Amino acid sequence: MMTPAPRSGGGLGARTHLGPDAFKDISDALNMLLADSLALYLKTKNFHWHVSGPNFRDYHLLFDDQADKIFAITDDIAERVRKIGGTTLRSINQAAVMSRVKPNEVDHVGPAEMLAELLEDNEAYAAVLLAAHDLCNEHKDVATASLIEVWVDDAERRAWFLCETLRSA
Ligand SMILES: [Fe+2]
Repeated sequence: MMTPAPRSGGGLGARTHLGPDAFKDISDALNMLLADSLALYLKTKNFHWHVSGPNFRDYHLLFDDQADKIFAITDDIAERVRKIGGTTLRSINQAAVMSRVKPNEVDHVGPAEMLAELLEDNEAYAAVLLAAHDLCNEHKDVATASLIEVWVDDAERRAWFLCETLRSA
């Protein structure tokens, strides 16, 4: 049975200036983003754990560093949802249902494939962030927009490192 996604609720208890439409749109976008972040974190860790072959140490450490950065964002996303009066994810099952990041459960994935796949995932993640930023601008939610700007820079940095590393993979 599919686990239902968290409901946005009615914004009760919100301590922000956001109206009901803004509250729902932004809560939903942030919860999807949280699901994507958890999935991308685990996928990056999966590659950290399973990478093998030449340059093992470089790839192993790169993936670990990137996974740490992604995981660090998750708490800020969830707490922003709570600050605006919403509810957020309660289980990994909910994250799995909502995430748009495609998992990779293949036994043997080569380092170049890992780098290319994460590059694509991080570019898609950055695009999702930019869409969420547009939504915040529409609703004049400057605080969430400001957080998202930092996360876009993080995602673009990860994409840069993956792209440059891929050249020699
Ligand atoms: Fe590790």
